Amino acid sequence: MKRWMQAALTDTWQLGGLTIRGRVVLAPLAGIGNWFVRLQAKRHGAGLVVSEMVSSFAVHYGNARTCNELLRIHPDEHPVSVQLFGADPDVVESAAERVAAAGADMIDINMGCPVPKVCRTGAGAALLEDPERALAVASAAARGSGLPVTVKLRTGLRAGDLCGVEVARRLAWSGSVAGLAIHPRRAAQRHGGTPDYALVARLVEELPVPVMVSGGLRDAPTTRAAFAQTGAAAVLLARGSLGNPWLFDQLLGGHDLDPTREQILAELDWVIERAVEHLGVERAGRYLRKFYPWYIERLGGTRAEQRALQAATQTAPDLAAVRELLGIRRVAVAA
Ligand SMILES: Cc1cc2nc3c(=O)[nH]c(=O)nc-3n(C[C@H](O)[C@H](O)[C@H](O)COP(=O)(O)O)c2cc1C
Repeated sequence: MKRWMQAALTDTWQLGGLTIRGRVVLAPLAGIGNWFVRLQAKRHGAGLVVSEMVSSFAVHYGNARTCNELLRIHPDEHPVSVQLFGADPDVVESAAERVAAAGADMIDINMGCPVPKVCRTGAGAALLEDPERALAVASAAARGSGLPVTVKLRTGLRAGDLCGVEVARRLAWSGSVAGLAIHPRRAAQRHGGTPDYALVARLVEELPVPVMVSGGLRDAPTTRAAFAQTGAAAVLLARGSLGNPWLFDQLLGGHDLDPTREQILAELDWVIERAVEHLGVERAGRYLRKFYPWYIERLGGTRAEQRALQAATQTAPDLAAVRELLGIRRVAVAA
């Protein structure tokens, strides 16, 4: 029946009592989804932005870098959801309280991360094998924060296994979550393989909470198709958004217009400035090396030119040199 209610990506919707303007959401991206990447997505139209995953232990114990950097929220990025990972309900409850105090509007719990370092602690995708604990963790986050809680999960751990679907059902019907984000690949697939959108479509029909879809949303046509096929409440852009905030504009503006060279360089310049503001010149210089390839790829040119520019930006001595290489003409940002 929900099929008849299929919305447009630009439509406003409700998630846990929050009004979300538009159905294109920035997915959690570890090591990437800090305040300025989220703010960038927001500038390009994201209705909701989700932080990179944050350790509930690190927050609970007041780790300075975690609390100062990962919980930093910009006033213009609301509504923002902070994603926590952890398997101890007491620790998650305490961390969730701090996340609320930091200004988050919502909390997302990671039940999809397949990385052994995370799963060994019982967190991430490992929670899919322990539904009681999964429910306890989600409820603890709600209790600690007083905020709406969503869970992002996989459909299972390995081929043929649907433990994630079972956990999704339990979370949704127990009333412990305001919504779910489903990445319909098994944890063992990591980020490869075809997402099972038909399975998401069935869960959208069945579950009493909004379901967001993640996985394989690499460009505007694939994202529109997945949104239509699943009937999901929203789409979560992940790898498709890396160095490509214009994907938000395309989806919300209903076009496929690519940015000009000037727009790409101006955007990268904005990112460089924000990174310096966030991390200082030295750390920003190192941190930004993972960002350059995404933008450089979009600049075009021959293979040889691309290779040369990619290599040069990776070894450039400082940000002024990077700007020079890219032809970004402006005064370097002060330390
Ligand atoms: C570099 C990277 C970091 C990610 N970090 C997180 C994370 O912190 N939390 C999370 O729930 N998912 C994380 N994911 C998964 C994405 O949110 C998304 O579900 C996945 O990439 C599938 O979407 P895509 O195929 O459109 O990229 C990450 C994915 C990538 C590629």
